[in-house]
Amino acid sequence: MKRIGVLTGGGDAAGMNAALRAVVRTAWRHDAEVIGIKQGWLGLAEGTYETMVPGSVSGILQKGGTILRTFRYPQFATPEGAAPVGRTLKKLKLDGMVVIGGDGSFRGAAKLEREFGLPVIGVPATIDNDIPGTDYSIGFDTALNIAIDAVDKVRDTATSHGRIFVIEVMGREYGLLAAQTAIATGAEEVLLPEVPWKIDDVCRRIAESYQRGKHHALIIVAEGAGKASYVSFEIKARLQRDVRMVVLGHVQRGGAPSGFDRIMASRLGHHATELLFEGQHGLMVGVVANKVQTSPLEKKTKAGPKSVLRDARLMELLV
Ligand code: F6P
Repeated sequence: MKRIGVLTGGGDAAGMNAALRAVVRTAWRHDAEVIGIKQGWLGLAEGTYETMVPGSVSGILQKGGTILRTFRYPQFATPEGAAPVGRTLKKLKLDGMVVIGGDGSFRGAAKLEREFGLPVIGVPATIDNDIPGTDYSIGFDTALNIAIDAVDKVRDTATSHGRIFVIEVMGREYGLLAAQTAIATGAEEVLLPEVPWKIDDVCRRIAESYQRGKHHALIIVAEGAGKASYVSFEIKARLQRDVRMVVLGHVQRGGAPSGFDRIMASRLGHHATELLFEGQHGLMVGVVANKVQTSPLEKKTKAGPKSVLRDARLMELLV
């Protein structure tokens, strides 16, 4: 293996840089050349890349985002979008590739294997933590801590004013980020895509908590569960109380990676590269029970966080 490529795809996640650093440094130890593809799949289509040496990744371990940049490129799924990728691969003559990203990137990675015969190893990186085969994906822990910090701050003003706050948390169709944010902040309510909910029940539970003497409420809404604007409008109309809304949005994707994400990203980036040099491919590296494990690149969806919510209700953590 003389020449490997590396790209970051999909939504950026804190810790992608740490993973990239580990890939470059590990490959360097094997005397291989590393080609960093710019802007993910778009860079592969347009042929924009740079040769990376350890100096290219110095000082990036603690940086948020991705220095390689990223881009949503759904066109890769089509023959027209894939054709220029084939041309770039022919020119680059790569022996393997590490793809750092989420499920969309892994579909792309599997296509690289299938249609272009390129050995690929995937490294899971998305704040959603919705990728099967790993307990955590890079960026989730950082995003969770950002959300916790934000909700704690909102709580101060909610209790001071005696208001209801509806706070929307990212995570696409997967509710784990919202569920864990709710548990860690002692929120009164959480709405998840995986658990059917009715606005009537939400209002009833909040009204009952007020009868028990509460004078504020924090309601976490996973973005895949519904619109925070709808929830806050209905609560205000039905309970006739002061309601405010906060959409955390892309704030959750930025900032320096947590210690947990830095370490996990470094481990996974290193292992992914070592696997390529061992001749393995078509796999994703993940962390299961704190051990690095591999699973196929293409697989089913991850089980939802229903049990997390059930535990929270059993522990009386929600209203
Ligand atoms: O998949 C990561 C994620 O941040 C989701 O939580 C969110 O739904 C989506 O990306 C937002 O995508 P974009 O950055 O393209 O708006």
